[in-house]
Amino acid sequence: MNKKAFIKYLLSQFKLIKKKNKVKKIALHEPSFSKFDEINLKKCIKTTFVSTFGYFNEELVKRLKIITKSRFVLPIINGTSALHLSLLALGIRQNTEVLMPSLNFIASPNSTLYINAIPHFVDVEEESFGIDPQKLKDYLSKVSIIRNNKCINKKTNRVISAIIVVHVFGFASKIEELKKIANKYKIKLIEDASEALGSIYKNKALGTFGDIGTISFNGNKIVTTGGGGAILTNSKKIYNEILKIYNTGKKSHRWDLIYERKAYNYKMPNINAALGCSQLSNLNLRVNKKRKIFLRYKKIFKNFEKLIEIKCEPKNCKSNYWLNTILLKKADLKFRNNIIKKLNDIKVFARPVWRLNHRLKYLSKYPKMNLDKSINLEKRIINIPSSSHLKI
Ligand SMILES: Cc1ncc(COP(=O)(O)O)c(C=O)c1O
Repeated sequence: MNKKAFIKYLLSQFKLIKKKNKVKKIALHEPSFSKFDEINLKKCIKTTFVSTFGYFNEELVKRLKIITKSRFVLPIINGTSALHLSLLALGIRQNTEVLMPSLNFIASPNSTLYINAIPHFVDVEEESFGIDPQKLKDYLSKVSIIRNNKCINKKTNRVISAIIVVHVFGFASKIEELKKIANKYKIKLIEDASEALGSIYKNKALGTFGDIGTISFNGNKIVTTGGGGAILTNSKKIYNEILKIYNTGKKSHRWDLIYERKAYNYKMPNINAALGCSQLSNLNLRVNKKRKIFLRYKKIFKNFEKLIEIKCEPKNCKSNYWLNTILLKKADLKFRNNIIKKLNDIKVFARPVWRLNHRLKYLSKYPKMNLDKSINLEKRIINIPSSSHLKI
């Protein structure tokens, strides 16, 4: 099959999908709402508690605990702030290095810069699009030594203090292996499960393997609170650290306004939590629908296996298939861009993966390992529409 024939077929299929959905354009990922969302929002407004205090905040915590089996949960204003708080709560110091993939959303490097720490970019592998454990192991054994129970980068003489593992598009990174490496090298493990609510690895929710996990409830995620996020942890100590700093640092008092420390205004408002509660009530249904969308895409494009694959979940992972991916068999930027352009021309809003973070101007000066696999994958990944209500 040649590339031209594939694009022709792809466009014809998406035209059919538009017809089936009775729409003129197809977003990459839209929120799905039901009447329960409206009911909850109205209920919340009636109580007048639309800001940081209220019933829905507590209810959201309860529901997330049931879903993730995390011991502690804190609803936050967004996933980026959840990462920021995670770094603070783990005591990550300024001028220490935080390992993270370059094939990544921008929240990891930005939150690291918020605390004046140093992003240090590492490579990913193809099965999960997450950090490559073997490459990381080889790299750390070469560039670092353990001194006083700390991992020291021999090149920069700085402490390597943490690693942010990102579960990309709902796929589980090789989290068990990465956790072993983090333990061996005395590095704190933050799991960015922003895109992976509802995904499990060996029957355990993503975001619950590390010292801390984060989730995003942005409008483009599987479940939304408008803007929002959450922190998951099993550590009472970490939980208490976050409690101190995530809600202005105000002392609990019936009427007096006493602020005890420098703190943030990061707690999720009750009205957002109200939306989160109704959205979470059918999470399983959403995951099932998205898994069906993956199967449909796989079937539609099965005759093009020499040219592309529809990326399937890695071993031991049951994915929420947040965003489906066409993965080109060979790195071919021209072909990738042509596919995305042609789809956008017919108002099917496909997109490439994020620009590799280490190449962004303001991040280019930070340390990095050889990033061959990320560079290769960047030229091969195309995300295609995946809203859970999409009929395919
Ligand atoms: C991998 C990843 N990390 C972090 C975030 C940050 O979440 P938010 O947009 O809620 O700040 C997002 C999503 O937007 C994301 O996809």
